Amino acid sequence: MAATEERATTNQTPVTLDDITATGPGTLGGRLLRMYWQPVSRVVDLAAGRAKPVRIMSEDFTLYRGVSGTPHVVAFRCAHRGTQLSTGWVEGDDLRCFYHGWKYDGSGQCIEQPAELEPFCNRIKIRSYPTQEYLGLIFAYFGEGEAPPIRRFPDFEQPGVLSAGVPEYWPCNFFNRIDNASDGAHVPWTHRESSMRVAAAAGRTYVPRPSLPRIAEETEYGVRNGVVSNGEVTFTTHFHMPNTNQTLSSTRVEGTMQDAANLATHRLFWRLPVDDEHTVSFVVDWLPMTGEAAEAYLGRRKHAEESQDAPLGEIADGILAGRLSMPEVDHSLSTYKLFFIEDYVAQVGQGTVANRHEDRPGNSDRGVLLVRQIWQRELTALAEGQPLKRWRTPAGLMAEATAKSAVYGLGGAS
Ligand code: FES
Ligand SMILES: [Fe+2]
Repeated sequence: MAATEERATTNQTPVTLDDITATGPGTLGGRLLRMYWQPVSRVVDLAAGRAKPVRIMSEDFTLYRGVSGTPHVVAFRCAHRGTQLSTGWVEGDDLRCFYHGWKYDGSGQCIEQPAELEPFCNRIKIRSYPTQEYLGLIFAYFGEGEAPPIRRFPDFEQPGVLSAGVPEYWPCNFFNRIDNASDGAHVPWTHRESSMRVAAAAGRTYVPRPSLPRIAEETEYGVRNGVVSNGEVTFTTHFHMPNTNQTLSSTRVEGTMQDAANLATHRLFWRLPVDDEHTVSFVVDWLPMTGEAAEAYLGRRKHAEESQDAPLGEIADGILAGRLSMPEVDHSLSTYKLFFIEDYVAQVGQGTVANRHEDRPGNSDRGVLLVRQIWQRELTALAEGQPLKRWRTPAGLMAEATAKSAVYGLGGAS
């Protein structure tokens, strides 16, 4: 039995840094993540009448969209003799098994057993999970009991360009990516090459700005990170407990290099374990554009997404293996893709499951440490059966970041 599973059942405390990386069923981290609706797919990646397998937090599920357009998440395997349900047929809002044709409705209730002369459907029900669409993603609730209302991000519901980016699958633990959420200090270095290319496209020379003192504070939604300049605090990024990061990026923009030079994107990332050694990141971008400008930008964005199918993970692996360096990476790639490679190199480069015990953190890491502390505190409360903090995301967080961008011209972390 894994250490965290043991802890979950024996109430041992305190929770350590090792507990925050295990998210399978029964682990403390897994129980915490399952208390929240989590994304399982982009809306555009699931056509009506299609089914596909999804793996989240070391568990497999079946995601399908009924002919009516309604998405459903049910168990991975058929109750009859266990074949994979995603290989079957969507019929109306139901799903028929590929092997012997048992049919289930969206609640997981078996409603047909065509090979049985005396069907016993009423005794067969597989698990199903509440499912809904929000911000261009399909979310499901994997927790116990009745699902809470989905966490809303009011700023991202405003009129504007809303676009879900291609999900990023990386071979590392999800907490490598959570650690990066409050890590503004990595931007000038990890994203140095991107910044140089954007500056060149704008006819400027990139000069990393001098470091500013950083602050981090716990809020009603998680952690707010800022910098201090001339005695004034400006907030730059927001981390929403337990696994969502919010940034304003003035460098990482999907589209042309001119888009990267001229636009800024508000962004949410959900960092979600596929299993404890693989992570998927679902990304939602929002830009304050409407009408013709929005249409034109979406066209350029679509072109950038479709015309470049470079194997970004392989390029990043090549850098980690010493076969090439970041300046040698294809200059036709958008900064959106370059950021993927740069962040992958830094975060996968920490090791599949980063060894945090040997870290030597400094002042610039205080946001990173605060997020870890909050995670440990919440997992401790969970282990002891104490109430957890109820997180809430207010409107207005984008405006803080926008003011920051206008005043300081700082790129957001990602
Ligand atoms: S395994 Fe699904 S109907 Fe037999
Ligand atoms: Fe980054």
